[in-house]
This record gives sequence, structure tokens and C-alpha cells, in this order.
Amino acid sequence: MKKGLFIVLEGPDRSGKSTQAALLKTWLEERGREVVVTREPGGTRLSEQIRKILLDPKSVIEPMTELFLYETSRIKHTLEKIIPALKAGKVIISDRYTLSTTAYQGYGRGLDLKTVETLNKIATMNLKPDLTIVFDIPDRIFAQREHLRNGRDRIERAPDAFRRRVNRAYKLLARKPGMTRVDAGRPIEAIQAEIRARVQPVLGRGAKK
Ligand SMILES: Nc1ncnc2c1ncn2[C@@H]1O[C@H](COP(=O)(O)OP(=O)(O)O)[C@@H](O)[C@H]1O
Ligand SMILES: [Mg+2]
Repeated sequence: MKKGLFIVLEGPDRSGKSTQAALLKTWLEERGREVVVTREPGGTRLSEQIRKILLDPKSVIEPMTELFLYETSRIKHTLEKIIPALKAGKVIISDRYTLSTTAYQGYGRGLDLKTVETLNKIATMNLKPDLTIVFDIPDRIFAQREHLRNGRDRIERAPDAFRRRVNRAYKLLARKPGMTRVDAGRPIEAIQAEIRARVQPVLGRGAKK
């Protein structure tokens, strides 16, 4: 039986997560794996409904309310999509997971980090990703992508100071034990090559050579 594998991609908006998720999926499929790409907030019907509320610029949401909404969406996502995929031996790639809550609601909104960590544990039922790849992107290169910000959703419209706190948090979190940091300021192909090299060892037996 192929071993299920849970890979999480983390980093600020426009750091390249979606680009790399698609390339990683193709590579894994070429190696005979069944791959599910999903995202947070979202991934299930209920979680996507919560995503709409969270991203709607008209929503008035206090930080603690925001934290619980993200975690509620995460419980459903974990139970309904992630765990079943893992049980079926699939590779599941999630664009964001618990580290996003630490970065945005913890460091960004200033909520107590222990509270965030506790709720992260509850919402995931202690499920841990096999690999959390954190995109660390130099400020200079990141600034060049500022024009890609559409400013339509509630998080994109948050004050610059909030986004700066989140970006700083990711730089810090990328270097914590258990995190797989990638330098996301390089060409797409170079980043993908590094990600593949990091995924290869955890692919397990079952994988086609
Ligand atoms: N390594 C890279 N070098 C240059 N541009 C990139 C790179 N990776 C992604 N991009 C571009 O940057 C933008 C944001 O990438 P995306 O994958 O959507 O980021 P995210 O999913 O983290 O928000 C896209 O326009 C994408 O084409
Ligand atoms: Mg994306």
C-alpha cells in the first residue's frame, strides 16, 4: 500500500505557493502518485463558505472571531478531505495550513500565540503535515510583485503594517525546527527542483522509481 503524504505550502500571498503546488502535483503524478491539491481556508463546501465570509471586504470580523472562523474551516477540511485522502494513500498538498494562522492571527493580528497554538491543535486533531515548506522571499523581490495585489479581498485590504508583520513572521517561522525553508526569490524551476529534492525522501516505498 502506498503511504499517504501530507505536504503543506506556506508563505505570504504572491510568494509562489500556487505556482509550485501545480508543478509538484505534475511531478508526483508522473511518479505514479494520486495527488489532491487543496487550500485553506477552503477545501470543502462548508470551508469554502467560511472562506467567502473571511475574504468578503464587507465582513466586520474581530481578531478572535477571525481565529475561530479559520479554525472551524480547518476542522471540516481536516476531517472531510485531508484525513480521507491520507487513508486512501494519496498525496495531499495544501496551500496553507496551521502555520498561516500563527502568522496572520498570531503575529499579524497580535493574538496570544499559545491560544493560536492550542486551537491549531484542536482543529487538526493533532494531525501533523509530513512536510511544511515555507516560502521565504527577499523583501526586494517581494516588493516587485506588489502590483499583482488586486486588493479585492478583506485580507488583501488590511493595512500595510499588518502585511509587514505577517511577512516578518514567515521569515522567523521558516527557520523553526520542523520547517522546510525554501528561498523563494529564485526562478520558478530552481525552487521546484529544491522542493522535489525535499519531497523525494518522504515519498516512501510505494512510489514508482
Ligand atoms: N519564482 C518566481 N519568480 C518570478 N515570479 C514568480 C515566481 N513564482 C511565482 N511567480 C509569479 O508571482 C505571482 C504569485 O505567484 P503565486 O504562485 O500565485 O503565489 P501564491 O500562491 O503564494 O499567492 C504569479 O504571478 C506568479 O506567476
Ligand atoms: Mg495562491
